[in-house]
This record gives sequence, structure tokens and C-alpha cells, in this order.
Amino acid sequence: MYDDCPKADRDGDGTSDGSHRTDGGGGDGDYDRDGDGDRGDDGEHRGRNAERLDRENPLAGFRDRFAIPEGECYMDGNSLGLLSADAEAAVEAVVDEWRELAVQGWDAAEPPWFTYGERLGDRVAPLVGARESEVVVANSTTINIHSLIGTFYNGDGKILVSELDFPTDHYAIRAQLRRAGRDPDDCLEVVESHDGRTIDEDDVVRAMDEASEGSEGNEGDGGDGTGVEILFFPSVLYRSGQLFDIEYLTEAAHERGILAGFDLAHSIGVVPHDLSTCGVDFAAWCSYKYLNGGPGALAGLYVNERHFGRVPSLPGWWGHEKETQFDMDHRFTPAANAGAYQIGTPPILAAAALDGALTPIEEAGIEAIRGTSIGLSEYLIDLVDDRLADQGCAVGTPRDPARRGGHVAIEHEEADRISRALRERGVIVDYRPPNVVRVCPSPLYTRYADVERVVAEFEAVLETGAYERFEPATDGVT
Ligand SMILES: Cc1ncc(COP(=O)(O)O)c(C=O)c1O
Repeated sequence: MYDDCPKADRDGDGTSDGSHRTDGGGGDGDYDRDGDGDRGDDGEHRGRNAERLDRENPLAGFRDRFAIPEGECYMDGNSLGLLSADAEAAVEAVVDEWRELAVQGWDAAEPPWFTYGERLGDRVAPLVGARESEVVVANSTTINIHSLIGTFYNGDGKILVSELDFPTDHYAIRAQLRRAGRDPDDCLEVVESHDGRTIDEDDVVRAMDEASEGSEGNEGDGGDGTGVEILFFPSVLYRSGQLFDIEYLTEAAHERGILAGFDLAHSIGVVPHDLSTCGVDFAAWCSYKYLNGGPGALAGLYVNERHFGRVPSLPGWWGHEKETQFDMDHRFTPAANAGAYQIGTPPILAAAALDGALTPIEEAGIEAIRGTSIGLSEYLIDLVDDRLADQGCAVGTPRDPARRGGHVAIEHEEADRISRALRERGVIVDYRPPNVVRVCPSPLYTRYADVERVVAEFEAVLETGAYERFEPATDGVT
């Protein structure tokens, strides 16, 4: 099951030798800036370069722990991360406990199921740069956005979002505005994109000011209900991969008395964060992308400790103060930490998958993961420029590594059919309308050789017109 992808495994040179360094060496995006001639203009030189880069990748040894679908070149880890041996073992262990302990597993399992969400929160906290008490693993991303917006929106002002957000964020926010008796068409302030790919951070700040102009107060909600009360932004745009400066946006929001919340779905596990130090008010994320927690994995959330003690808008008994949860009092006493945002009994089998999945991430270290991620995406962008640009492809992702997350958007007017043709060839990418093929070299299991293969297959699909056999997408995504 944990076999390598045979087609892409051209070198067999020990890139999956089971050993790994965690010193953050190599993989820093500086993959061939040494002018040693490895990166020539012909495929042979490039192939050698990928081999060398794979040998130097400090995280290369982790690939062996993942189930790479046979024969496939998997580039969709930003949609669903792969199963690791660690995750599989953790699920099996909980199945054994369920068999042997049954209901006593809530206390007697190792770790006890009763506090699994808090414990997973402790493990995830370093990935978002938060205190353990500020993070809990619970619910789904969408539910957590409902819960957080519902809790922090006081019903007076506007909520500032981006035109390029993932739709579920807007669905939840609009619903919460309606619940508060406000008209979402008036109260959802949307920052527009100039190029359809990215959002200018200075436009975000301008929007904070403009929305508040003419309002009487200066404390976010504008005092008369016209100002911005909450900024809710993604860390990374799901389509183009633009990475926002969370510190800058949070500071700008706070200077204007606005709360700052973020959706970290496309950055957690691949980009380090510093939420507590930046003073971010709240955040939510999913665990099935770079955390490799499995399909529909339990999501997570962060609430800054200065907000502890609020009653969540979606309370449930699992968010009750743990010590007295089983007193069965009908009045809700929220846990004095982010655990208060749990709602119902957590699905322990799913929780176990995430528990195991976190082990390779912790061993690799988030800084080294980011280093390899930048190296892989830099390599991919350069190959797209070299080999696909004159075939109608454009890179839709910011070129500055500090401004992009873990995936790269390759734009082409036939993106939907190209992505289908690539999948047929075992290159698993996805399509996002209107014109983006997303390619994600997830750093714990993707090789530079795989990046080579994606671009070579992309080139072949374009040169041969192989995509023309496919009907344009009717179901939105592939
Ligand atoms: C930015 C973002 N938010 C939320 C979600 C999905 O939310 P949920 O996990 O509730 O399905 C996704 C899914 O890809 C996403 O990209």
C-alpha cells in the first residue's frame, strides 16, 4: 500500500530511504541558484536536477510513510492529503480500544476519548503559533465559522471579506448576519480583486476605512452600525494560492477597533503561523488538506485567550466546563478555554486519524515543511515558465514565495479538460473554474521528480491535444 509511484520513480536513488533530516537544510526554495549548470535547457539536465534536489530534500524520507496511490502522481494534497501509516495505525488502535473497552474508553483509553479534542488542540497549537488552551479540534470548518462569527458578531456593523473566498465562508457569514437581523447584501462588505487572482492587502485596509466613513463611532462597528466590525479573511486563497500577511491585516484591523478572524484551511500544516503573537482574535481550519487527517477530518479552531469566557453562539454539552460536564446541569457553563467551542460528542475514529497524521508533521517540523514546500513550488513555477508558457499557460500564483501557500495555479482556457486528461494519465490535479488547474506538491510526500512529471504530462497533453477528447466539465470541479 505504501508503494512509490512506479512511473515517476525513475531514479530509485534513495529519495525514500527512510532517513530524514529535520534541520531545515535544503528545500529552501534556493534549488538551483548556485549557477552550477544543472538546470539546463534540455530535459536531461532538468531530470538530473530533480534527482539532485530529491537527494538533498531533508524531508525525502517521509514519503515512505504515505500511501501513494499506485501508479499515480498525486498533486491534490491541498484538497485531500494522503493516508500515512501513522494515521492508519492510530485508527486501528482506537478500533481495538472500542472492541476491548467499549464505553469505558471515554476514561480508560490511551489517550482518554473524553478529552481527545483538547489533546489534539494541544498538538495542533504549535502549527498555528498559539497557546494550547487557545486551540481545540472539533466540528467541521463550516460549523466553526458559523460558531465563531455568531459568537463575535455583535449585530451592529459590517463583516469584511474577499471576493475570492471559498463559498462556504460567505454562506456561513451571510446566515449569521441574517440571524442577527441584518441584511447580508448591506452588511457583507466584499473587497474586490483587480486581476481575478489576488486581493491587494492595501485595498483591504482601505475598505476598513471606507466602510467606516461617516459613521459616528470608532470602535469597529462604527457606533451607528455602518462600520466594519469583523474582518474575516482566508490565510491563502483557495484558487490562486495567494498568502496574506496575517500580522499586517490584524494590526490594521485592531488599529481601527475591528476584530480579525481567519480561515486557515489552505495554510495549516504547510505555512507556519503566529496567531497568538499577532493577536488574531479567532480562526478556523480543516484537517484534511496538509494535515492529512482524512476525508472529512475533524476541523480545528483558535480563540485568543482574551476572549475566553464568552458563551459560544452554538453551545453544546461537549463545550461545557469539563469538570462539571456530567453534573448534567441544564445551564451551560462554557469551558474556560477554546474547548468551549466544541459542540457534540467528537467522532473518535476520525480524531484518531488526525492524531496519527500529526506525528510525521511534528517530526518534520513546520519550518522544514515550509522550506521544502517553497522549493517544490518554486521549481514547478520555473518549469511552467520554461515549458508551458508558450502553450497558453500562465502562472496565477504570486511569484514571491512569501506571498504564496503550498499550491500553484496554472491557468489555461482549457483548464477543465486538461485536468481530466491529466487524471487519465495518473497525474492527479484539480480544476477550479473558470481557468485554473491547481497543482499541489505536498511537501511530505511529493518529489521534485513528480513535479517534473506533472509538467511533462501537461506539455504532452497540450502538444497532442489529448484534452480535446473530453467534454467540458458540467459538474463544477474535477
Ligand atoms: C478555505 C476553505 N474553507 C472551508 C472549506 C470547507 O469547509 P468544510 O471542511 O466545512 O467542508 C474549504 C474546503 O476546501 C476551504 O478551502
